[in-house]
Amino acid sequence: MTTSQSLPDPRVRPQLVAGAGGLVDRHGRVATDLRVSLTDRCNLRCTYCMPPEGLQWLPKVEQLTDDEVARLVRIGVEQLGIREVRFTGGEPLLRPGLPGIVAAATALTPRPEVSLTTNAIGLSRMAPALAAAGLDRINVSLDTLDRERFKQLTYRDRLDDVLAGLRAAQDAGLTPVKVNAVLLHGLNDVDAVPLLDFCLEHGYELRFIEQMPLDAHHAWTRGRMVTAEDILARLSAAHALTPDAEERGSAPAERWLVDGGPATVGVIASVTRSFCGACDRTRLTADGQVRNCLFAREESDLRTAMRAGADDAELADRWRIATLSKLPGHGIDDPSFLQPSRPMSAIGG
Ligand code: 5AD
Ligand code: SF4
Repeated sequence: MTTSQSLPDPRVRPQLVAGAGGLVDRHGRVATDLRVSLTDRCNLRCTYCMPPEGLQWLPKVEQLTDDEVARLVRIGVEQLGIREVRFTGGEPLLRPGLPGIVAAATALTPRPEVSLTTNAIGLSRMAPALAAAGLDRINVSLDTLDRERFKQLTYRDRLDDVLAGLRAAQDAGLTPVKVNAVLLHGLNDVDAVPLLDFCLEHGYELRFIEQMPLDAHHAWTRGRMVTAEDILARLSAAHALTPDAEERGSAPAERWLVDGGPATVGVIASVTRSFCGACDRTRLTADGQVRNCLFAREESDLRTAMRAGADDAELADRWRIATLSKLPGHGIDDPSFLQPSRPMSAIGG
C-alpha cells in the first residue's frame, strides 16, 4: 500500500550511478588506500595469527592470477580514486610474480604510492628487484630481537633472515623502513624497549600494533591484550616521549618524538583508541573478494564476476556497492562482536 518502498534511498542512489565517483560509504568516508593480499600462505606461524600447523590454504585456481590482480588495481586507481596500494599476505614475498605486480601498479596514472608489508624472509634477495619495479616503501613485521623468543613466537628459527632483509631494504632505498611489532603478555612484552633501541640505532621507524581478534584459532582476549597504554608505560621508563605535533590525518599510528626527536615511535591502538571514523581503506583478498573492513562479515566477489566476463565499469560498480555498506566501526567492544570468519593472513593486514 505504501509507496515509500519504491522510493530510492537518497543516501544510496548517487553511488549506484554507473561510472560515478570513488569508494564512498554511507558514513561519508572515502576509501583511497587499497590493501591487496597476494597469498594467504606464510613461512612463519606468528602465534597471534596462525596455528603452528598452518591453515587450509586457498586452492590455486581460486587465487587471482598476476594479471587479474594488476587489472583490479588498475580499476581501483583509474576509476575509483585509489591513491595508495599496499601489497600484503600472508607473506607477499612468497608470490613469484611480485616484482611484476609492483611494476604494473607503479606504471599506472595517476601513479599510486606502492608499499609492501612483509616478514622480510627472502627480502635480502628480493629488495633490489622490488626497488627496480618502483616499490616506494616497506613495512617489516618483527616482534622480538631475541632468537629464542622469535622461535617461540613464530615457530621458525628465522630471525637472522629478517634482520638481513631489513638491511637489504634500507640499502635498496626502500625507505623509510618501518617495523611493525605486536606485543603479547608474558611472551615478548619485555621486547618493547630493545625493539625501540634497535630501530633508533638503524634508522627504522617502529610502530607497535595492539593485537586484534584476527587470529585463526580465536584465542584473543581483551584481558590479555597489551594495550597502547601498557606499551607507552614500558617505553617511557627508558625514553622521554612527547606527542608528535605533525598532522595525523587518516594514519592509524599515534606518533611520539623519542628523546626530543627527530626519531619517532608510533602506536596503533586499533582496539583501545579505534580510528574507524577516519578509515580510508578498502581491501582485496588473494581470491578476489572486496572487503570494506578488516572485520567485515561480508565480502563482494569480484573474481567470479571478472571470470564471467564483467567489464571494468561493472567491476568498478561492484566495488562501489561493496563500499557503501561499510560499518561505522569494528565493534570489538560490543557484546555482539563476532570475529570475521577469515583470519588476518587471508584478509591482508
Ligand atoms: N593483531 C594485530 N596485528 C596483527 N598482525 C597480524 N595479525 C595481527 C593481529 N591479530 C600484524 C602483522 C603485520 C601486520 C600486517 O599486521 O604483524 O605486521
Ligand atoms: Fe605470517 Fe604475517 Fe601471519 Fe606472521 S603475522 S604468520 S608473518 S602472515
